[in-house]
Amino acid sequence: MKQHLTVVDHPLVQHKLTLMREKDTSTASFRQLLREISLLLAYEVTHELPVTTKRIETPMCEMDAPVIEGKKLVLVSILRAGNGLLDGILELVPAARVGFVGLYRDEETLQPVQYYFKVPKNLEDRCVILVDPMLATGNSSVAAVDLMKEAGARDIRFLCLLAAPEGVARMKDAHPDVPIITASLDERLNDLGYIVPGLGDAGDRMFGTK
Ligand code: URA
Repeated sequence: MKQHLTVVDHPLVQHKLTLMREKDTSTASFRQLLREISLLLAYEVTHELPVTTKRIETPMCEMDAPVIEGKKLVLVSILRAGNGLLDGILELVPAARVGFVGLYRDEETLQPVQYYFKVPKNLEDRCVILVDPMLATGNSSVAAVDLMKEAGARDIRFLCLLAAPEGVARMKDAHPDVPIITASLDERLNDLGYIVPGLGDAGDRMFGTK
């Protein structure tokens, strides 16, 4: 994957995203839409995975058929909102290994604080997809990528639903080797570090906690 930022402008993704942004969308609909969008984003993020062939036998003949090369993919969810994206992607890639990074944002400093870290082994040989719906300040995303690199990961992609220009710039500065795939590059962050126009607090909206 060469580009640093990929915005998935597929009409289905954009339509579903609009429904998610609307403030009166229910928790149930928000969750369902997130699941549907995550399947479409998963298609894009896995687009350039290396492929090899294996010899198989169809009912007609033998052939060299394409299969994804290398060890199983690793999906790493940045808790808690990452789990909303994770569920959908796992439907598409059921054999993927899964890790979790627990980071919360200190609402005063906006800096990430780590409280959980559990990831699969042999990260150096695997493609790692970090998932978090909102790339806002980029502080947690940069911290999560730092942790993954410390754990051995070398091939990392970052998948989010919305990105703010500030977060994209911060990631590009800290981790230019990590491509970002998103459904939208929004306008800006507000003073509280929320994405505008955005969709509010993704965790609260998917879990109904507000
Ligand atoms: N996290 C969210 O859930 N929403 C934002 O707009 C920014 C960070």
